[in-house]
Amino acid sequence: MSAKSKLVLGIETSCDETGVALYDTIEGLKGHKLYSQIKLHAQYGGVVPELASRDHVKKLLPLVRGLLSETHTDIKSIDSIAYTKGPGLSGALLVGTTVANALGYSLKKPVVGVHHLEAHLLSPLLSNPSLDFPFIALLVSGGHTQLIQVKDIGQYRLLGDTRDDAAGEAFDKTAKLLGLPYPGGALLSELAQGGEASKYPLPKPMIKSGDLNFSFSGLKTAVAHLVQKLDVKKVMASKALKADIAASFQDSVTEVLTEKCLSALHLEGAKALVIAGGVGANTELRRKINERTSKIGVAAYYPPFEFCTDNGAMVALVGALKNSEAVYGANPFDIKPRWPLST
Ligand code: KG4
Ligand code: ZN
Repeated sequence: MSAKSKLVLGIETSCDETGVALYDTIEGLKGHKLYSQIKLHAQYGGVVPELASRDHVKKLLPLVRGLLSETHTDIKSIDSIAYTKGPGLSGALLVGTTVANALGYSLKKPVVGVHHLEAHLLSPLLSNPSLDFPFIALLVSGGHTQLIQVKDIGQYRLLGDTRDDAAGEAFDKTAKLLGLPYPGGALLSELAQGGEASKYPLPKPMIKSGDLNFSFSGLKTAVAHLVQKLDVKKVMASKALKADIAASFQDSVTEVLTEKCLSALHLEGAKALVIAGGVGANTELRRKINERTSKIGVAAYYPPFEFCTDNGAMVALVGALKNSEAVYGANPFDIKPRWPLST
């Protein structure tokens, strides 16, 4: 390790994934570990906050220990600790902040709280350290669908937002309608691969609204009506039918997202686009974005697939970028469950 490099431990506990990572400011990502609570929550059809917090308590320290041992890192060589301060579930966030601050206190190292959405939208830097500012970012996760102008680190302007459901939420709710377990976004996308989008065309909400906002709750309702019309039992019994509906739904969502990204790029005169958040793992979305941006000379950047959904690597990365903001002896309960990115 170079004399000037700093080693940052990142901790993510904002929702239902416990993530830890070590990021070296010169060498980059040294390692990461992730524990997903998906199986724990699947039986309830969504995340149960109290169960999420309890599971973070159980898993976080063993994950940190495992990470240190796999990367042959002495805990004393960590220079600072970054944790997700918000937005997210209060109880889950409290686990991350208390562990981060307790470690910081015992190691006499500074700690910095990271904005979860900022971590998502800077996550492509994990694989593209040369990505230049400014750029337009589409943040598409289970809780957010936002278009953001990123002028520089810490300088974010909201260009558009969803009026109701987030894109990932629409994927999950539609997946549920098709009998897939929670969270069904990735499973629905897999199912759609064998289907024909043109068989049952669905609306493309707000595609021509003239602004950069989104609305996806009507689309899920349109799928519910379609399933009723085709006969619920018939749909559930036919993988081919479900695949066609899934393909049509995915086509509508990805078409709207792509069109709005193109409008944002055009309006802001930007030359780079970042797609971040869980839905950024969707291959159809990536295909459409790549096809359209390559025609206008815009570079599209994505985090590596494994870092599209929640993870510790993106938190450690932002901790490294904001290393100068880390402080020793901070408030160990410093969380912001609701925290707009533009502040
Ligand atoms: O960023 P993330 O892990 O959590 C939030 O901060 O919300 O995103 C999770 C969301 C879920 O709604 C999940 O179904 C969706 O991302 N997702 C996908 C895919 N992989 C994950 N949606 C569509 N296609 C995928 N391949
Ligand atoms: Zn997230």
